[in-house]
Amino acid sequence: MKGRIFSGVQPTGNLHLGNYLGAIRNWVNLQRDFECIYCVVDLHAITVPRTSEQLTNDTLEVAAGLIASGINPDSSILFNQSQVSSHSELAWIFNCTAKLGWLNRMTQFKEKAGRNKENASVGLYVYPTLMASDILAYKATHVPVGEDQKQHLELTRDIALAFNSSYNKSFFPIPEPQIFGTASRVMSLRDGKSKMSKSDISDYSRINLKDTSTEISLKFKKAKSDSNPLPFSIKELEERPEARNLVGVYAALSSKNEEDILREFGGKGFGIFKPALADLAVSVLEPINNELRKLMNDKSYLIKVLKEGSNKASSISQTVLSDVYNIIGCVR
Ligand code: TRP
Repeated sequence: MKGRIFSGVQPTGNLHLGNYLGAIRNWVNLQRDFECIYCVVDLHAITVPRTSEQLTNDTLEVAAGLIASGINPDSSILFNQSQVSSHSELAWIFNCTAKLGWLNRMTQFKEKAGRNKENASVGLYVYPTLMASDILAYKATHVPVGEDQKQHLELTRDIALAFNSSYNKSFFPIPEPQIFGTASRVMSLRDGKSKMSKSDISDYSRINLKDTSTEISLKFKKAKSDSNPLPFSIKELEERPEARNLVGVYAALSSKNEEDILREFGGKGFGIFKPALADLAVSVLEPINNELRKLMNDKSYLIKVLKEGSNKASSISQTVLSDVYNIIGCVR
């Protein structure tokens, strides 16, 4: 094994092709070489208002999506954050390690809090210290995340370094980010310049893991494109964001590179390319979709998986936390 992976995903419902190609598929592949711990971060989700039905349903749905995509809950650890109290406990300690100035620099807080900062929850502000505790409670060595989480990971490294130096110990390993490349970034099917997103008002902008094969086909056929045939070189795709995105998705789904796809489809129009893309997407996503539906009909199984995962996670993180309490001098 090359090290220990930790990563987290918010239970925000509606996993889509962008999540799958951008993150989940990487998580699945990492299971071959690393010890993997994957967490549905329900406590991060409540940093913004969420109904209890939403939180419960989305937690189970994300867990189902991960399992359906190939996360193996027997060989990896899959659990939800709130069942393992070490995360919140360590987060408090890190709230005392991190400086206000560090948190003030976090761009995600600024974006999410928007204009009305006074009305944002304190939890949203300290979100990154909870994320640091997620990672460090397992002494994870590698953290696969998207570009948008890079700054939070740097903060995690700063916290680990600061903790180590305050107590003059090399206790926490400094986790390495594994940033997913922009090649795996999937854009909206309605606008090739904005990211595929679960919050886009148009459902035609995204392929959901929950979509049926008919919906997937229809969405690709209706995807925004242009009236020119596909070019023969990547360079010629540059001014054509929608065409570029569709070629990128085809490449990612077939695990080939974009040059290969243009070699096959260069000179052909979207009338030929889109149906081929739709068929390919269905062939990859249909088995995941079938499994996801099955799992969502067996909530007690999902609850059991998360419980067992939480027990495994606790046994690792409780040991780390207990060492932390000893290091800082809490009487035990
Ligand atoms: N903040 C991450 C996101 O929104 C989710 C997350 C929480 C996470 N804890 C983590 C990711 C720990 C990696 C490691 O995508």
